[in-house]
Amino acid sequence: MSARVMARWAATHGLVRFGLNQQARRGNLDARLMVDPALQADPFPYYEQLRAGYPLAKGNLAWASVHHDVCTTVLRSDDFGVARPDLILPKPARAALKIIGTRTSAGPIDPPSMLATDPPDHTRYRKLVSRVFTAKAVAALRERTAVVADELLDELEAHRDGPVDLIGRYASLLPVTVISEILGVPTSMREQFLEWGDGAAASLDFGLPYSRFRRSEADLDALHEWFLGHFQRLRANPGEDILSQLVALVDEDGGRLSEPELSATALLLLGAGFETTVNLIGNGAALLFGHPEARGDLADDPSLWPNAVDEVLRFDSPVQRTARRARRDTDVHGVPVSEGSVVVTMLGGANRDPRTFDQPNRFDVHRRNAREHVAFSSGIHYCLGAALARMEGEVALGRLFERFPQLTPAAEPHRRPTRVLRGYDAMPVLVGSRAVAR
Ligand code: HEM
Repeated sequence: MSARVMARWAATHGLVRFGLNQQARRGNLDARLMVDPALQADPFPYYEQLRAGYPLAKGNLAWASVHHDVCTTVLRSDDFGVARPDLILPKPARAALKIIGTRTSAGPIDPPSMLATDPPDHTRYRKLVSRVFTAKAVAALRERTAVVADELLDELEAHRDGPVDLIGRYASLLPVTVISEILGVPTSMREQFLEWGDGAAASLDFGLPYSRFRRSEADLDALHEWFLGHFQRLRANPGEDILSQLVALVDEDGGRLSEPELSATALLLLGAGFETTVNLIGNGAALLFGHPEARGDLADDPSLWPNAVDEVLRFDSPVQRTARRARRDTDVHGVPVSEGSVVVTMLGGANRDPRTFDQPNRFDVHRRNAREHVAFSSGIHYCLGAALARMEGEVALGRLFERFPQLTPAAEPHRRPTRVLRGYDAMPVLVGSRAVAR
């Protein structure tokens, strides 16, 4: 069994990692971005180097673009489809995988996840999930999210005499609690879910070291197994939650989600639901620590919060990149791209495009067009949870800074080691005294 896991790692990550390390040593920037911690901590100067290439820059393994208009074109074009890991690996690795077999527990970007599916399957699948994941369902969660936030802030207040980790005790617990309620998962499972979710998040990256890969596979197996039991419980005893509805859902033609599709959707909602929103809350807190004037403006005028959340998403995007694969020979803004080629859309770089955003490297909560960012992607895969994420960001950050006006960093925050996802995994803070009720 473990020989199989090792072989699968070699085919999916090991070969790529070997190549990336070699190229990085030779100074290839694209490769360095994936393996060098320095570039990962601050990828923005690298994006500026890519900006010189318009519309596309030729990267190490694929084309890449940091241009807002180009990324939008690619993400909206039906000449491009999903860039499933099993389709974009080098040829020898794909051949090896055919023999070894892909893993049994699909990750959030493996089929049959919605994120790894092209039309017409994607259309049917997304339509079904959207029927239960409505704007109305999200609006109904706002009050509950505020209650969850206040409970967590009460717990933070108990630590007011010393430093406390804002990520571990607040930014990660809030979204996992909300998504657990959406999925009908008992709150007592949330710490376990955070742990398993880490493995699911790691599976988004390329070139993982063996130990991380193994852990990621084990976490995904555990999650799938848990969900299969959960579906049975929900079928026997449905609740009010969105997942209970999804389990029972049948479309007009009598079609329903298959068990693997249900499991993939639950995993995607869970993973997308907290592995990204935690970064929005953490990145937002760090930015506001560094911009006291913005903090003051938000305290004076809380109606600015929605725009501030979009500015956080633009300025320090929780998902830095995604990719698409050409389904046929095509061109992108005049440059020919052949079938099978991959274009990496650098969302974090497109969100700093000076042709779309005035003074893009300035964090400005008053920015008029902050909402034009592509932090939630664009086109048919546009984030299904965007409304939920925005709502959670507003409630989480708004209530935090309102309750603790003296909140301040106690030490340097620590960045997560992930490449696609950008955020912090530790942020020691001092909460200070609570705001006096006005
Ligand atoms: C700040 C938080 C979030 C960010 C930055 C984010 C970002 C993204 C991005 C960039 C994509 C598209 C990737 C691509 O085009 O390849 C996506 C898709 C998706 N997101 Fe989110 N997301 C967030 C929160 C959420 C939440 C809270 C949920 C649900 C609970 C969610 C559910 C989904 C789903 C289901 C998809 C797949 C849609 C499809 O393939 O049609 N996301 N998200």
